[in-house]
Amino acid sequence: MVLQNDLILRAARGEQVERTPVWLMRQAGRILPEYRKVREKLKGFKELVETPEAACEVTVQPVDILGVDAAIIFSDILVIPEAMGLPYQMLEAKGPWFEKTIRTPADVERLNVIGGEELQYVLDAIKLTKKTLNGRVPLIGFAGAPWTIFSYMIEGQGSKTFSEAKKFLYTQPEISHKLLQKITDSTINYLKAQVGAGADMLQLFDSWAGILSPEQYQEFSLKYISQICDAINPHLASPLKEGGGVHLVPLTVFAKGAYFARKEMGQLNCATIGLDWNMDIAESRTLIGAGKTLQGNMDPCLLYSDFGTIKKETIKMLKAFGPQRHIANLGHGIYPDIEKDKVK
Ligand code: CP3
Repeated sequence: MVLQNDLILRAARGEQVERTPVWLMRQAGRILPEYRKVREKLKGFKELVETPEAACEVTVQPVDILGVDAAIIFSDILVIPEAMGLPYQMLEAKGPWFEKTIRTPADVERLNVIGGEELQYVLDAIKLTKKTLNGRVPLIGFAGAPWTIFSYMIEGQGSKTFSEAKKFLYTQPEISHKLLQKITDSTINYLKAQVGAGADMLQLFDSWAGILSPEQYQEFSLKYISQICDAINPHLASPLKEGGGVHLVPLTVFAKGAYFARKEMGQLNCATIGLDWNMDIAESRTLIGAGKTLQGNMDPCLLYSDFGTIKKETIKMLKAFGPQRHIANLGHGIYPDIEKDKVK
C-alpha cells in the first residue's frame, strides 16, 4: 500500500523531508479520554493489549486526535517474557508484576525461544491497524531491548535501582549471557513477525540502559542490540547483497540514560538513535556522527508548562537538531496527567 505520509520513513532513511516528522512515546494512553473510555469497557490493560480490535482503536486515536506522523502499535514490551514462559500482570497504580522470576540456571533453561507466532494477538492487531490506517501514516512496531527485558525477568517488577538484575550480572555472568541470548533470539523472531504483519518501522526500548556502567553496557546490552540490528537489516550487515545501503524497515534504538555509549551507538546497523532530554543535541550529533537520524528529545515535563514556553522550547529544539535527519519526539514517554491540548 502506498503511504500518503511517509515523512518519518524518509527522515529515518536520511532522505529529504519538507518538515520534521513527529510522534510521541506513549502517545496512546491515559492522556486521552478516548483511550480511557475504551479501557473502561475491558477488564484491564492486558485485555486491551490482547484484543486486536481494541488495540487497533487506541493505536489510531492519537493519529486522529493529536495529528502525529506515525502510529505505534498498542502493546507492551512485557509480552515477550510472557511468551517465553513468565506471565505478567499489570497492577492498577503499581505497574507490572511477575509471579515467577528468574533465579537459577534451570529457570533460564526452562524458558522458550519464541518464533513470533505465539504473539498472534499482536500480529493481528498490526494487520488490523494497517488496514484501518489505510496508508495515512506508517505504523511502528517495537520490543524491549534484551537488557531491559532481562531486568524485568529478574526483578519481577519495576525498581528504582534494578539492583537484583545487576547483582545477577555480577554473580552469574555466564547464565546472564545465556538468558540475554535467549531474549535476543526471541526478539529477533518477534520483530521479524511484526514486519511480516505490516510494521513499517521498528523501535527498541532500552529503558534501563542508564543504570549500567559503560563496560557493562557494552557487554550486557549493546552486544545484543547489535545482533538485533544486523538481523533486521541483513543486507546492511553484508552490503554486497541486494538492497545494500537502504534501511528497508528503519530501526530506532532508544537507550534511556546511555549518554556514555553514544559513540558506540553511532556504529550500530540501525537508522535512528533516540536521545533522552539529558543528552545535549550538538554533542550527540558529534558523537553519533552524520550517518544516523536522531530522535527526541524534549523533556516530557516541559508539557506541564504554559503554551508559550512549550512553543518556544520546541522551536529551540527543532533549530538545534536542524531540518533534516531528525524525528521530533519527547526524551521519554508522556506522563498520564499532561493536558492533551499541550501535547497537541
Ligand atoms: O503509545 C505507545 O507508546 C505504545 C504503547 C506502549 C506501552 N508500553 C503501553 C502502556 C509502549 C511502547 C510501551 C513500552 C514499555 N512498557 C516500556 C518501554 C518504554 C518506557 O516507558 O521506558 C516499558 C518499560 C514498559 C513496561 C511498563 N508498561 C510499565 C513499567 C508500565 C507501568 C507504568 C505506568 O505508567 O503505569 C506499563 C503499563 C503501560 N504500558 C501503560 C500503557 C499505556 C499504562 C497502562 C494503563 O494503565 O492504561
